[in-house]
Amino acid sequence: MFIAFEGLDGSGKSTVAERLVQAMSAAGLDAILTREPGGTRVGEHIRSMLLSDESPTIVPRAEALLFAAARAQLVDQVIRPALERGAVVVTDRFTDSSLAYQWGGRGLDKEGIGAVQRMATAGLEPDVKILLDIPVETALRRRLSDTGEVNRLDKEALEFHARVRDAYHWLAEADPGRWRVVDASRSEDDVWADVSRTVNLSGLSASRDRWPREEPNQKVVG
Ligand code: TYD
Repeated sequence: MFIAFEGLDGSGKSTVAERLVQAMSAAGLDAILTREPGGTRVGEHIRSMLLSDESPTIVPRAEALLFAAARAQLVDQVIRPALERGAVVVTDRFTDSSLAYQWGGRGLDKEGIGAVQRMATAGLEPDVKILLDIPVETALRRRLSDTGEVNRLDKEALEFHARVRDAYHWLAEADPGRWRVVDASRSEDDVWADVSRTVNLSGLSASRDRWPREEPNQKVVG
């Protein structure tokens, strides 16, 4: 099973994704957590290039291709091998981040972004996509009070993030079978209650195989 968390920065994706992997591991499932961009040595290099304040200007098409390059590396080195051994893979962002940010936010051509994703993933798609939906202002406020850190992409105007959120809504409406939209402006426990119900955590652990127990990890490979 392959589960992707999507949403604006400050929506709480990373916390909920970690909590999900921990709960799965505690239930005896083989579950791993990956994050985008990153998760492989090549991906971490690309990540620092993309997010560093010191990066020179990256034009939107180059940005889209760099995200896709990191993703291709993650798919081949981490995600597919894990799925093939029967693990559950939980990812903090996947292809829909590129659609939301590079198509919705930057205004690049949607078909082009889609084609690049198909190449990067060789057609792999999450079984379940969870949108942690939150108003732009709430997300930004949270982000600033949590870390005080703001990356290059956070500094984009509020309208940019509003377009990203609209694109997420569009994507979720276009494929309701795969998407679950969770109101992420509530408390962490309320959001968690919805997420664990959505992935049917109790059903999953009841039917688990005898996978070796593993701590959730975000190992960097390659
Ligand atoms: P993220 O790792 O969630 O940020 P952080 O660790 O700083 O909380 O994502 C980094 C930024 O990259 C985020 O603003 C969204 C953006 N992004 C894209 O624009 N396109 C993509 O394909 C991905 C994966 C991320």
